[in-house]
Amino acid sequence: MGKLIVGNWKMNGLGTSLAEAQAVAAGLGSSSGGPGVRVGLCPPATLVERMARSLSGSPVLVGGQDCRAEASGAFTGDVSAEMLSEAGAVLVILGHSERRSGYGETDALVAAKVEAALRAGLEPIICVGETLAEREAGRAVAVVSAQVRGSLPQALAGRAFSVAYEPVWAIGTGLTPTTAQIEEIHTAVRAEMSAVLGAPGARAPILYGGSVKPGNAAEILSASEVGGALVGGASLKSVDFLGIIAGAG
Ligand code: PGA
Repeated sequence: MGKLIVGNWKMNGLGTSLAEAQAVAAGLGSSSGGPGVRVGLCPPATLVERMARSLSGSPVLVGGQDCRAEASGAFTGDVSAEMLSEAGAVLVILGHSERRSGYGETDALVAAKVEAALRAGLEPIICVGETLAEREAGRAVAVVSAQVRGSLPQALAGRAFSVAYEPVWAIGTGLTPTTAQIEEIHTAVRAEMSAVLGAPGARAPILYGGSVKPGNAAEILSASEVGGALVGGASLKSVDFLGIIAGAG
């Protein structure tokens, strides 16, 4: 199955940055990594609608970076899945470690957001990952397995979604796990997905995220059970992002 390569712009990007997204779309013809590679970009909420418009007709999928579980209401500053969908998003990143640690998002809250995404017809990308302290304590597999168990609602069965394994210590640091470490966690994630969801959990892609760059993408993406990548910093520049996509072939 084709890989899914998604860029997470985090809180970066003004209107001028849409040129980078257009360059990604333009470059896909020549740099696309093999048949069936799916490419997405998740800009800040303010740019979702404009990016979706400017990329309409291109194969690049647009997504949000978070959503509220409720469809509407008195939740100052928040954005619902329905709002993202209306703005043109088809993907949404949920449970990113920057949300889990910075906003106290629990597995139960992430699961509720996943249900909201499905309700609105969005394809969720559900993030999990251990901290350095948890890895050093030998708890990486246990922590990530528990996150998968708690963050994946039954409603995912039969729906399009992915899980992204992003070790917290690899995000934005330039550090990456070894291929063996990635494979160990992805194997555990797969087992947990199958246990929670049955057969549908055996098929959905498991992405790797954390300091993916053009120089390491091909090796990471060829590891077993790696179905794609979630890319932060290197997705802000179209040449770097296209270089990563080329590694998905
Ligand atoms: P990074 O971020 O690629 O900049 O390490 C990844 C992420 O947070 O999704």
